[in-house]
Amino acid sequence: MKSLAVKVDKGLAERLRREIKEFIREDLVVVKDGSFVYFPVKGSIIDYADKNYKNDFTFIEMDFPYREIRPDEDIRLSYDLVGDIAILPSDVDDAETVAKTLLSRKNIRVVLKKASSIEGSFRTRKYDYIAGERRTETVHREHACIYKLDLEKTYFSPRLSTERKRVIENMRDKEIVIDMFAGVGPFSILAAKKKCNVIAIDCNPYAIKYLNENKKLNKVKNNLNIILGDSGSVLSKNIHDIADHIIMNLPFSTFDFLEVAARLVKKDKGIIYFYSVGEERGENNDRDDLFDEQIEKIESIIGDIKVRDARIVRPYSPYNYHICIEFSINERF
Ligand SMILES: C[S@@+](CC[C@H](N)C(=O)[O-])C[C@H]1O[C@@H](n2cnc3c(N)ncnc32)[C@H](O)[C@@H]1O
Repeated sequence: MKSLAVKVDKGLAERLRREIKEFIREDLVVVKDGSFVYFPVKGSIIDYADKNYKNDFTFIEMDFPYREIRPDEDIRLSYDLVGDIAILPSDVDDAETVAKTLLSRKNIRVVLKKASSIEGSFRTRKYDYIAGERRTETVHREHACIYKLDLEKTYFSPRLSTERKRVIENMRDKEIVIDMFAGVGPFSILAAKKKCNVIAIDCNPYAIKYLNENKKLNKVKNNLNIILGDSGSVLSKNIHDIADHIIMNLPFSTFDFLEVAARLVKKDKGIIYFYSVGEERGENNDRDDLFDEQIEKIESIIGDIKVRDARIVRPYSPYNYHICIEFSINERF
């Protein structure tokens, strides 16, 4: 099939592809030879080229093979999958059409769309129902564990899966783990399966209900103790220096609970996993900024810490990152 094409040097092709992707024809196959890449393009690119980078484009006309389009290939958007529920971003175009295609996949029974940000002390969000079965409850599988949960009543993010695996790899048999903001249990259940002695706390009664169910579903025995309450006050002030690992996954509020965590952690060898959201502000996108400010703030509250690792967990929003600072406390707090 003859088409207008943009010819570009191989080394520049990927950059150009990103710049002109809205003009590239999807019904034809991009052609390459030893030195050049040829993008089949729509005629409207001529206007764009005139206004933008007139001199950078080499237009030719040439033959391209047709491309076979799979029925679901028009879905080029990211969605989260929790159990059998697909979650579309709030700004998705034509959610109903997208949902139709998603529902043709065997593993998806419900399609929802985000209708709010994560909010409130239970860290939940609202969803709009789009298609499929009308429910927000599902069963999610991750790292050979099963989590029953309700998306509207409890917090759960499949995007933390790698982070959970990483944290659990630090844990050993019989160690004591306190999961201060446990939710439906994705850190706690994993730690309990690793034969740690786990105390899982959450103030959301629904999270605790599902966590109790998940304890049974995953056949975790007596080494998982579940507490409904406020992590800031539920454990007696007389308890201290007990935990080998303390997981603090409540970004935005973690600082408020630092003193309690510092009291509970074993000094020197215990590890606190401190989650927060850091902002990249350096002139050269200097990522150290992300951590330095947070570490200073931690030290202003509980004194010197020994940082074992500081990492980006995932992007949160432009210039903001969900981060984890892993640290120990040397001195008796
Ligand atoms: C961001 S979610 C994390 C849940 C879980 N760790 C996960 O990764 O899926 C934070 C959880 O902390 C709980 N929470 C908020 N404030 C709390 C408090 N003061 N004490 C105990 N739990 C709290 C919320 O109900 C929510 O389930």
